[in-house]
Amino acid sequence: MIGQPTGEKEIYDILQEAKRSLNEEGKLLSKVYNEPSIFDLEVKKIFSKTWIFLAHESEIPWSGDYVLRRIVDDSFIVTRDEDGEVHVLFNMCRHRGMQLCRSDAGNSSHFRCPYHGYTYQNTGKLNGVPFQKEAYGPEGLDKDEWAMTPAPKMGIYEGMIFASLNPDVQPLEEYIGDMGWYLDFYLKKSPAGMEVVGPPQRWVMPADWKLASENFIGDGYHTQSTHMSTIKAGIMRVKSPAYLKDGVQILAGMHGCLFMGFKPGSYFNYPQSIVDSMKESFDPDQIALLEENSVLPLNATIFPNTSLLHSSMSIEEGGKSVPYVTLRVWQPMGPGKMEIWSWCLVEKDASEEFKKASNRSYLSTFGASGTLEQDDAENWSGQTRVAAGEMSGQHYLNYGAGLGQVEPIPEGEWAGPGTAYPKNYVDFAQRHFWQTYFDHLLDSQNGS
Ligand code: FES
Ligand SMILES: [Fe+2]
Repeated sequence: MIGQPTGEKEIYDILQEAKRSLNEEGKLLSKVYNEPSIFDLEVKKIFSKTWIFLAHESEIPWSGDYVLRRIVDDSFIVTRDEDGEVHVLFNMCRHRGMQLCRSDAGNSSHFRCPYHGYTYQNTGKLNGVPFQKEAYGPEGLDKDEWAMTPAPKMGIYEGMIFASLNPDVQPLEEYIGDMGWYLDFYLKKSPAGMEVVGPPQRWVMPADWKLASENFIGDGYHTQSTHMSTIKAGIMRVKSPAYLKDGVQILAGMHGCLFMGFKPGSYFNYPQSIVDSMKESFDPDQIALLEENSVLPLNATIFPNTSLLHSSMSIEEGGKSVPYVTLRVWQPMGPGKMEIWSWCLVEKDASEEFKKASNRSYLSTFGASGTLEQDDAENWSGQTRVAAGEMSGQHYLNYGAGLGQVEPIPEGEWAGPGTAYPKNYVDFAQRHFWQTYFDHLLDSQNGS
């Protein structure tokens, strides 16, 4: 029983046992959903070690544009300089540590510290020090030494800007690994790339970040129950509530996703111009999945806390469903509390009419007041609430769907990389998420 772990050794022992029970029995200790001493470890072993998504390039299209982002409690300014280069700069003045920038987004070539007035360029270079000679002598200050501190690592993957607090983190391409092939379905549907529609919506939820990550990595099972109201209201037009029963669950590196089928030839209701773009951008195996298997990834999680979703909803009563992509970050704020950041992504070269309709479709379902979003929120906050008590320290949860019953699709029969399971109502991807999670917390290099 976890009770209230007192020492580091005790937490490690509990996590070791939790990992064993998950791997060997398909059971998860419910306390890991919401436990303060584990949250501290998550910050040290996951959020300070892996790549974390911060912003999409299209949020800062012009020189001088910036957005404020964070990795747990570390604030970063993501800027685009005069040469078009992107920088991720730690938002703390080098003088006395004042927070340099306090607006969420804007355009500025410089950041002037409100405390004593140090002024930095949007590259991070220190440009101005008030009364420099009086304060630091005739030679002044070595401005190169006192520039803003960049994030230890930054990288851009198909327009997605990531950073890491870990200077030794593996290269971003390698970190994304096999998952890149699946991310193409979201990010490379057009050779022009994707762009965000406006700023992200943000809201705070009394729910643990992991519950959202694990839901998005593969939980097709909840849709027939949780999202029934959206089906009944006619917003989601599906033949049966079990519309996600058939599909494919994917484990790719540390990440994963879930494929769903669409009506053959309908291409998920994408306009013909986007279908043509997909065929131009995708490799032959990806095209075959679309054309012959009529499937595409529905939801996906990039470990630890970034998810993507394709969906398609009616925006007018009786009208045709309009597809959209949402990109979301489950931003931890503390044990059992997160801030959700949610963007709608559209193909840069899509028509204005489609962009507008796609965004409306997204807002009605996965925006802050969206029907599906609220359905999910109720579950995640409920799970978090009951996991806060003592009983959850001795309470194990069923993650056993498919265990010992469903085999991966044999090699050569599935076009994509990673491991593919031929069903959606299984827990392979969710177990994979938790195995990856335990591997990080326990510093294990073992695969899952
Ligand atoms: S704290 Fe920024 S100039 Fe002093
Ligand atoms: Fe959901």
